[in-house]
Amino acid sequence: MKKSSKDYQRLGKGGHWMIRLSLSVVFFLSGLFKAIDPKGTSYKIAEYLTSFHCYQLADNEMLMLGTSLCLCLVEFVLGVYILLGIRRRLASWLCLILSTGFALLSLYVWIFNPVSDCGCFGDAVVLTNTQTFLKGVFLLTLAGMYFRYWNKTESLLSDGSHWIVSLFSMCFIFLFGMLSAFYLPMVDFRPYKVGVNILQAMEIPHDAEAPVYESSFILSKDGKEKRFSLENYPDSTWTFVRAENKLIKRGYEPLVKDFSVSDTLGNDLTDRILTEKNLFLLVSSDFSHADDAHIDEINEIVDYCHSKGYEFAALTASSGEDISKWQKYTGANYPIYISDEVVLKTMVRSNPGLMLLEKGTVMAKWSCNNLPMPEEDTDILSLHQDTRTSFLQLLKIILCYVIPLLFIIFVTNLQRTNKTNLNNSKMRKKIVAGNWKMNKNLQEGVALAKELTEVVKNPNCGVVICTPFIHLASVAEVIKGSAIELGAENCADKASGAYTGEVSAEMVKSTGAQYVILGHSERRQYYNETPEILKEKVQLALANGLKVIFCIGETLEEREANKQNEVVKAELAGSVYNLTAEEFKNIVIAYEPIWAIGTGKTATAEQAEEIHAYIRSTIAEVYGQAVADDTTILYGGSCKASNAPELFAKPDIDGGLIGGASLKAPDFKGIIDAWK
Ligand code: PGA
Repeated sequence: MKKSSKDYQRLGKGGHWMIRLSLSVVFFLSGLFKAIDPKGTSYKIAEYLTSFHCYQLADNEMLMLGTSLCLCLVEFVLGVYILLGIRRRLASWLCLILSTGFALLSLYVWIFNPVSDCGCFGDAVVLTNTQTFLKGVFLLTLAGMYFRYWNKTESLLSDGSHWIVSLFSMCFIFLFGMLSAFYLPMVDFRPYKVGVNILQAMEIPHDAEAPVYESSFILSKDGKEKRFSLENYPDSTWTFVRAENKLIKRGYEPLVKDFSVSDTLGNDLTDRILTEKNLFLLVSSDFSHADDAHIDEINEIVDYCHSKGYEFAALTASSGEDISKWQKYTGANYPIYISDEVVLKTMVRSNPGLMLLEKGTVMAKWSCNNLPMPEEDTDILSLHQDTRTSFLQLLKIILCYVIPLLFIIFVTNLQRTNKTNLNNSKMRKKIVAGNWKMNKNLQEGVALAKELTEVVKNPNCGVVICTPFIHLASVAEVIKGSAIELGAENCADKASGAYTGEVSAEMVKSTGAQYVILGHSERRQYYNETPEILKEKVQLALANGLKVIFCIGETLEEREANKQNEVVKAELAGSVYNLTAEEFKNIVIAYEPIWAIGTGKTATAEQAEEIHAYIRSTIAEVYGQAVADDTTILYGGSCKASNAPELFAKPDIDGGLIGGASLKAPDFKGIIDAWK
């Protein structure tokens, strides 16, 4: 057994599921939280770029917003892919690349402290830089494990619904992100959310825990520097160089730390602003970048406020020159005060945005794209805003995604089940394959092939003839252009080299053959082909572009001991269940009870159907129902024109592997015609 599959067994299905769930939840939520506040994410990206001295890029607001939306989309969709098992290989690569990138970034953040929090989950979950680094390492470990065992991830969806689920998820998150950027975040995780009293949020209780710092002192002697603490402070032969304070434990931090307002002369107006009744604040971090398409609406609101006796003022971090330009351009007849740029960007994610304060309590916020328009009979003050908890809002958004998603999955699966039920026998490829075994010399073989091309016209199933090696090239010429395909009866378990008498998969393929029979009971019995040898042969055949007709089946004793299910499952597990789902699509199974081969004894149609259905169920266990439904399972063992119709009528029997009866053209044709 390969080391990786041993490791996987140690990890177990449960362990794999835990990794899958953790990764999908992390990516899903971090994509969703970023999409709730794409502008916040764009500010964070700009912060990172500034720390890398990429000022021009960081200044390009549209580029930052576009990058932020792309990041939300990639993370969210990746979370969905990992959870549902869509595009598994792509998802595992993407997951590894993103996790590596995030881990490197978190290391940089941890060492150099360029940002105060990483912004991984927007403002919803704020991590310290150490926590960010630990998260980065943890995520990378999980991503590495997921990458290693990506092919063990079972898809929870039928193949047909993958694209529609992908498309829906992409459209949902992109539109949601766009709406959040155009209006305001639908869930506000920031300190200035509706309902918060800024004055109270700034208060520090008397008994608040103070931050704990550790002080150390760097002193030098004889040109060498050394670090000391207060406890081991050295004597005066040492010269003081510098002191360093390291934060050991954060103390109490108020929700709002840095709110302050002053007039253009520098007089502090914070208290006045926070005690004012009915105060409308036009918030613009930077007038020179403000959206000026709504100036008329803003002026209308200003007039309205003046007529009603409400206060109206603007808060900005713009330069004096930009303030004058704004006043001139918009005719602003309201006072303009100064505040911190980051605070203003945090207050309202719109430039400009509007905020209504009632004695320091945030009553409402509006984006410039959604300003409240004064109407005769409604007072703007009465336009209450949603103050439901963030959790409920978040739940609402998740349900807006999950409910239609479940509906889509339900409908596509229903359609597929109906189709499968109706067309079960039509969907999978039906095949009648001949196994000539060690019969016919070259001339006889070529003649038989020629005869078959004459009688087999427009068959209702795939027709394959598997011949001894020496016939392959000649028969390939004869059947060229006909409906018949060609296969070998065996190939070597080595790729090439000094293996006298052997024929490699590559050689078989070079004759023009498309199939190879592997694992036939005669080869297992007379040539001691073990599951390990067969596993190698299967790998080589697939690697050389051959499709494999893989034979399994029980002996009479095993059937009498009722061990047939156990036997076939072990044969499959021993040689082909290590393949990826993609590789497995090139496997045709041939169930051949050994007691029926060449003996004239056939399994009854019911017996065959029962074990075929069982085989399909084991495939479904390993690769999922969709792959199982697409796998062709042939019956072999004294199959003739007389019993073929009854056998082929069974839903899980998709054709036959025919020995004796494939050696005469009319007999073989009779079996092919059973598909009519
Ligand atoms: P049979 O052989 O049809 O002669 O029983 C089937 C096989 O061995 O593939």
